[in-house]
Amino acid sequence: MKRKFRYGMVGGGPGSFIGDAHRRALWIDNAAELVAGCFSRSSDKCKVTGTELRLDEDRMYASYSEMAEAEVKREDKIDFVVVVTPNSSHFEICKTFLEAGFHVACDKPVTTTLADALELQRLAKERDLLFLVTYVYSGYVTVRQAREMIDRGEIGEIRVIQGEYAQGWLADEDVSGNKQAEWRICKDLSGATNALGDIGTHIENLVYRMTGLEITEVLANMEMKVPGREIDDNSTVLVKYNNGASGSYWASQVARGHDNGLKVRIYGEKGSIVFVQEESEKLWFTLEDGYWREIHRGQGMIYPYPASFERLPSGHPEGWFEAMANLYRGFTNCVHAKEQGTFNKDMVDYPDLVDGIHGMAFIEACLESNEKGNVWTKVATAD
Ligand SMILES: NC(=O)c1ccc[n+]([C@@H]2O[C@H](COP(=O)([O-])OP(=O)(O)OC[C@H]3O[C@@H](n4cnc5c(N)ncnc54)[C@H](O)[C@@H]3O)[C@@H](O)[C@H]2O)c1
Repeated sequence: MKRKFRYGMVGGGPGSFIGDAHRRALWIDNAAELVAGCFSRSSDKCKVTGTELRLDEDRMYASYSEMAEAEVKREDKIDFVVVVTPNSSHFEICKTFLEAGFHVACDKPVTTTLADALELQRLAKERDLLFLVTYVYSGYVTVRQAREMIDRGEIGEIRVIQGEYAQGWLADEDVSGNKQAEWRICKDLSGATNALGDIGTHIENLVYRMTGLEITEVLANMEMKVPGREIDDNSTVLVKYNNGASGSYWASQVARGHDNGLKVRIYGEKGSIVFVQEESEKLWFTLEDGYWREIHRGQGMIYPYPASFERLPSGHPEGWFEAMANLYRGFTNCVHAKEQGTFNKDMVDYPDLVDGIHGMAFIEACLESNEKGNVWTKVATAD
């Protein structure tokens, strides 16, 4: 029998966004319970969230380092930590918990430099610890279906990929009062990129998860469309892949009228697949006959492995929480297997530090390409 795990959270305090989504996603399969947290750098705010979530007061921590230090000494210590703070703090927090011997789940982008992501990988390997990077979209059943169709050769060798993530929420100059916007446009908190790191990496990871292709070279144009911005809010990238395919990605936060307009179109020798995040219950594909087919999650044509993540019959929409829960299902299964001594790396069916490293290598190559005047630049992970 699987025991219920205990987890702690860093970030996810009052008024924050993604921390609450992680808590809800983890609740869906009931595989882990939140028992500890440092939800904010302010201990008062940490207590507000800790109290709302009914934690014991002695497990509401004033700092993440205090939390790691105290938890490691407890008999009922956490099994893993969830890191949901702004990007620039991920590295130090993850490093602290890995060094203390805890498995880690961290939101994307995993760090702000490739070197830091590689260091986390080194530490995780050295301590034999698991690391989930919550590229949430890769958890959708339809995304896993697309991967299986591609693996089975249904659309043939991939030739062209088009990806876009269009948002309009940062189109205005004044974003004061919007907690999520304020740190994203600030270089010190976001890292050297905003749009590309925040949503461009979602395109990059989604394509990687759907196709397994690796990016070898990029040519990036990173722009600040809103006056006064210090990091990009509209980025376009030409991409070459290791099988000879090519593509282009567009990540924008100034595309008025769009919310989470993530869309990937994959064109192979024998057919094409289209995934639209805001309609993630469906997947579109065509074969050599050119007729478009629409398949629905929950219906019989979903292959057994992706279908094993379904929770509702077709027509009762699943969504983003379930996609996140699917990542945590794989992760907690691996935590269980580690504990039982039955773990092997083929069990890892969620984005991990390899994905995190690909994301950071992609970002760094784009920054270099942009700085050098939009020239083709090799991606480090391609070596
Ligand atoms: N996977 C996705 O689809 C997705 C979506 C949104 C955000 N994100 C990522 O999640 C992370 C958080 O984004 P958000 O929008 O929730 O931000 P947010 O500003 O809403 O929340 C951040 C929280 O972290 C807390 N915090 C900051 N520094 C801290 C520290 N040192 N110790 C403890 N708490 C601290 C803040 O008080 C706040 O509660 C970012 O890395 C972002 O890129 C991922």
